[in-house]
Amino acid sequence: MSKITISNLNAMKQAGDKIVALTSYDASFTRIAEQSGIDVLLVGDSLGMVVQGHASTLPVSVDDMVYHTANVTRVSERALVIADMPFMSHATPTRALDTAGRLMKEGGAHMVKIEGGAPQVETVRHLTERAVPVCAHLGLLPQSIHQLGGYRVQGRGEDAAEALLRDAVALQHAGAQMLVVECIPALLAAELSRALDIPVIGIGAGADTDGQVLVLYDMLGISVNQVPSFAHNFLKEAGGSIGGAIEAYAGAVRSRRFPAAEHTLA
Ligand code: KIV
Repeated sequence: MSKITISNLNAMKQAGDKIVALTSYDASFTRIAEQSGIDVLLVGDSLGMVVQGHASTLPVSVDDMVYHTANVTRVSERALVIADMPFMSHATPTRALDTAGRLMKEGGAHMVKIEGGAPQVETVRHLTERAVPVCAHLGLLPQSIHQLGGYRVQGRGEDAAEALLRDAVALQHAGAQMLVVECIPALLAAELSRALDIPVIGIGAGADTDGQVLVLYDMLGISVNQVPSFAHNFLKEAGGSIGGAIEAYAGAVRSRRFPAAEHTLA
């Protein structure tokens, strides 16, 4: 299996081939996900909720992220592995560099993900100028849940949409090589994907992004949390086979059957 790189993902965007991403937090699911054709594995801080049972992602530590990222990269042979920078671990550029260094050196991550728009531009530049590949994350920011007051759609209305577009362009200029957009209107996500050169991966952001990501436990329907309306239970569809469920997800994304209208937010 040859390793997927950011150059492969850029080429997929150019060719209009959908990128399939999925969260993973351990070795066994990583092996199944790779055998089922996943391109990008995200060691998301969603692990704080679906693995650790916290009410939000805020309690997740850098040690937790290093531990889970290493569990994934130890067996991963094909996917590009992105590790989340947990809450407060990127509060300053210096602290962010320390965190990213640990995630890459000890965890083996190929890229780190940072939640946030304009306030993160300086940090993204600081990292990318020092050889740390960065995936930005806009829209619904779970680490800002107490500021947002709930898990709801972001970027609705002209001003909010323009601000999001501006932030995305600034993050790309600062060196971000990928962007995750979460819970934003499908039309805005489509516009962002056209406007940016870097791959845009959506979750709850409609079908017209360069790729899709889901939380593994949500798409298997085994999460302790309420599963968001934009997710789909692929385990049920695949008759109880985990590999079959992940293959069904990958196939549905590549053939543009997922997300369908019922998973799309306006
Ligand atoms: O932590 C995570 O799993 C994420 C995805 C929801 C994109 O950031």
